[in-house]
Amino acid sequence: MAENSASLASRKALLIAVDGPAASGKGTIARALARHYGLPHMDTGLLYRAVALNLWRWGGDPGNEFEALRACHELGIDHDDPELRSEPVSQIASAISAYPAVRAALLERQQDFAGQPGGAVLDGRDIGTVIAPEANVKLFVTATPEVRARRRMGELMARGMPAHLEDVLADIRARDARDSQRDVAPLRAADDAILLDTTELDIDGAIAEAIRLIEERAAG
Ligand code: CDP
Repeated sequence: MAENSASLASRKALLIAVDGPAASGKGTIARALARHYGLPHMDTGLLYRAVALNLWRWGGDPGNEFEALRACHELGIDHDDPELRSEPVSQIASAISAYPAVRAALLERQQDFAGQPGGAVLDGRDIGTVIAPEANVKLFVTATPEVRARRRMGELMARGMPAHLEDVLADIRARDARDSQRDVAPLRAADDAILLDTTELDIDGAIAEAIRLIEERAAG
């Protein structure tokens, strides 16, 4: 645990919720916060992606809530599976995550993780609003769609999955719209969330700013 985290480390449990749209930097920030505060981390987007991948491999219909629910059962997540991060799986994840039955099926796993005695860091879309409204600190991470599309391009390239910028930007805009307009657990900042715009920040800058904001909130 880092020395300068003493003010928060003295708490019995520290629960940090990190929400935001696609490729905003929330995952990188959440992982860094987990390291900094010595906490376990859950990327909840991977749960939705794993359901989407299951469904895709069975040839199930993303337009059918029952088939999507079936894909939630016996969910194994292979973090190294490159298909988890592919564009078709991103789109299916965004579609099936609008189903109440799918969200309900994944709820307990996330809340159990959030309820660990020492605390945790979770990132997603609805952590601060639905999964862990009791979180000690909530961050809502944003950036412009263009900057997010360029970042996602870089990630896909690094994984050996080259893509076109226009396609990635269109995907990001489509998911933004779907994620924020759905009826259940839409993407939105909790009323008590701290906003962090990473448009002008590099990774190190964004992480440093997240820690500064959290410490400032804790001190206040
Ligand atoms: O990494 P990226 O931000 O592109 O996506 P992700 O966090 O892996 O999430 C993939 C999809 O799952 C999102 O487009 C959301 O529709 C959905 N999701 C959700 O509904 N609720 C969450 N807590 C996390 C993800």
